[in-house]
Amino acid sequence: MSWRAEADGSVGQDTLAWYERIALGRPGAIVIEASGIRDIPSGPLLRISDDRFIEGLSRLVRAIRAASDGQTRVFIQIIDFLAIRRRPDPRRYFSDFLVLRDEHRKAMGTGDDTDVRARLAALPPEELREVLSASEWRDLNWGARERVTDIAQAAIRDLPLHLPGLFARAACRAEAAGCDGVELHYAHAYTMASFLSATNTRTDGWGGSLEGRVRLPVDVIRATRQAVGDGFSVGCRMLSDECIEGGTTVEEAIWIATRLGEAGLDFLSLSRGGKFDDAAQPKIGEAAYPYTGPSGYECIPHAISDERGPFGRNIEASRRIRSALRVAGLDLPVVCAGGVHSLDRAERMLRSDVCDIVGSARQFMADPDWLEKIRKGEGGCVRVCTYTNYCEGLDQKHKQVTCRLWDRERLDAPNVRLAADGKRRLECPVVTSGDQAVNDRRP
Ligand SMILES: Cc1cc2nc3c(=O)[nH]c(=O)nc-3n(C[C@H](O)[C@H](O)[C@H](O)COP(=O)(O)O)c2cc1C
Ligand code: SF4
Repeated sequence: MSWRAEADGSVGQDTLAWYERIALGRPGAIVIEASGIRDIPSGPLLRISDDRFIEGLSRLVRAIRAASDGQTRVFIQIIDFLAIRRRPDPRRYFSDFLVLRDEHRKAMGTGDDTDVRARLAALPPEELREVLSASEWRDLNWGARERVTDIAQAAIRDLPLHLPGLFARAACRAEAAGCDGVELHYAHAYTMASFLSATNTRTDGWGGSLEGRVRLPVDVIRATRQAVGDGFSVGCRMLSDECIEGGTTVEEAIWIATRLGEAGLDFLSLSRGGKFDDAAQPKIGEAAYPYTGPSGYECIPHAISDERGPFGRNIEASRRIRSALRVAGLDLPVVCAGGVHSLDRAERMLRSDVCDIVGSARQFMADPDWLEKIRKGEGGCVRVCTYTNYCEGLDQKHKQVTCRLWDRERLDAPNVRLAADGKRRLECPVVTSGDQAVNDRRP
């Protein structure tokens, strides 16, 4: 997410300028960030949840095509996510949020609920842990969040009834806006990834076994494929490995990818990790962020790393998944992303059958012109991502994402657009002679 949508989730000048700037560097394709498919207020998250968003999205698609001289294909990632609350102040948790049970009353030795709440609030953590259930303990210490396994709640139980239609209608809007395709978000900490997850223990046929876990994702692909035209691509992004204890492994991901491919996917994009399950404990008043634990590290690796560094950590898993798809007779293109910031590495990945398309996020934020500079023989001018994850810190706070390599540069130049905090420029400046050529094509 770049967190640049207007307050109602529509495309405004900030979103246009961000993608236009990236398109000037003419990547082969841009996948517009995760965009919400439910028509509910979602802050500065881009939305594709109603036909009223089509007009803004069409402008965005046209801007990308114009800035790239028509060289860049345009996809949009469509997403569903469940509610997550901030970590509560313990006093409020005990006074307002905790639903008292007889076990609490018994453990506190009183039937007076006001007393029960007061006594629970006064317990030391080690005793409290004995009295609260695992989910109450998590809600207190990490903030409550909905899970696909909460099937006692009608809205969660009925997700399999509603999501295929929601995704399919969003894809139709993407098609109407002129996109080349959609990427269904089946990765990281979001609803569809939670259905695919080894932690999906639903007992109603939509979880438990691998067949149960893949059932809704397959239904969504079929509904989406059926709703759009033949020339419109329907791909998905899923995890090659959940990278959590007891999570989906590469072996299971191979089985899942094969079923999704058989359901008619046009491309498969592979990410890894990025789960809530092992996220760091948030501060009181803040929400958990799925890129703070070990699985988060695998997803958006940082420069402070192990001996492998933040580079290409998804390569081995992608190679295995792609090879299994080919053995199964499926020839859909596979995209591999994570820690790729050089053409040399990207070419090696393509030549050694890791993937058919190389994806990159942070290197494009660090220098949207990096490919253009290399094409022009100006590779020495590329600003190389330092993997310090300043951009991720902004994403965590839902602030307009910028890169520390350029966001304080030439703030007083004419027409510089600043972030809401007034301290950062919103788009990468143009600096080299090669950049001048890029600048000349600015529509
Ligand atoms: C600021 C920021 C925003 C991101 N937004 C998305 C997103 O909207 N959808 C998605 O699937 N991944 C998102 N990612 C993850 C990236 O797509 C990518 O998987 C990850 O950063 C690793 O690749 P890289 O090393 O090329 O950055 C985001 C990452 C960052 C740093
Ligand atoms: S802020 Fe840091 S990690 Fe993010 S793109 Fe820029 S250099 Fe890379």
